[in-house]
Amino acid sequence: MNAGFLQFCPILGDESQNIKNIALNFETAKDPDLLVLPELANSGYNFESKKQAILLGKSIEESEYVEFLVAHSKNKNLFIISGFLEKENNKLYNTAVLTGPSGYIGKYRKMHLFMNEPEYFEKGNLGLPLFELGGFKLGILICFDWIFPEVWRILALKGADIIAHPSNLVLPYAQQAVPVHGMINRTFNITANRYGNERGITFSGQSILSDPKGNTLIKAPAKGDSVEVTKLDLELARNKWITPQNHVFTDRFPAQYTDLIKA
Ligand code: ACM
Repeated sequence: MNAGFLQFCPILGDESQNIKNIALNFETAKDPDLLVLPELANSGYNFESKKQAILLGKSIEESEYVEFLVAHSKNKNLFIISGFLEKENNKLYNTAVLTGPSGYIGKYRKMHLFMNEPEYFEKGNLGLPLFELGGFKLGILICFDWIFPEVWRILALKGADIIAHPSNLVLPYAQQAVPVHGMINRTFNITANRYGNERGITFSGQSILSDPKGNTLIKAPAKGDSVEVTKLDLELARNKWITPQNHVFTDRFPAQYTDLIKA
């Protein structure tokens, strides 16, 4: 299958312009079956106030942005994972939606909130869903989730072949970790990052797609729109043998890991 990322610079508070910019970038995508877009791609990130964020938030059902993604997924027969500012019962979630050839499929809500995000968002309350998509299995993480190895491992243990990672990365070393998580879990990882500056925060671009051996297959520049797609051999993600005698999962010793589940 062909998978990749779409890196662009969302404009804070201007969903219709963001849709136009994404639509232009979609035109340049080379035959993807799956495309990952950045975190909060419809809204921008660094809100001026909670009031602004609440006004910009939408439910999945009422969102023109989700409708736009669904239309493109159906039209081009592809899966899209995109960050989305979700409002439910007047509460906000930093969400990633998944659409596909059949329409809207599901969502993940970011668990690990960065810096002042807790002023805006509730913590993700949907766990770590695995999406079985006819031919491959997909997990989703969002941005700062990257620093917690537990969540990558859980998705791998659930059977994820690919982990999609919509991001607005700020810390300059985050991209280095993505292929390493892929190497130690034997998954394909796709980080779609944004670039640009928003009210004093600079985002680091360098979207990255890595393979189950930790190789970087594609990487975008630090600035500029970038839509890159490459072929994935999913069998690589299904072979969890490190040597003929060592297996990523069955060599683990969970009885010795109980410290991990102490709060
Ligand atoms: C981040 O979680 N947006 C850095």
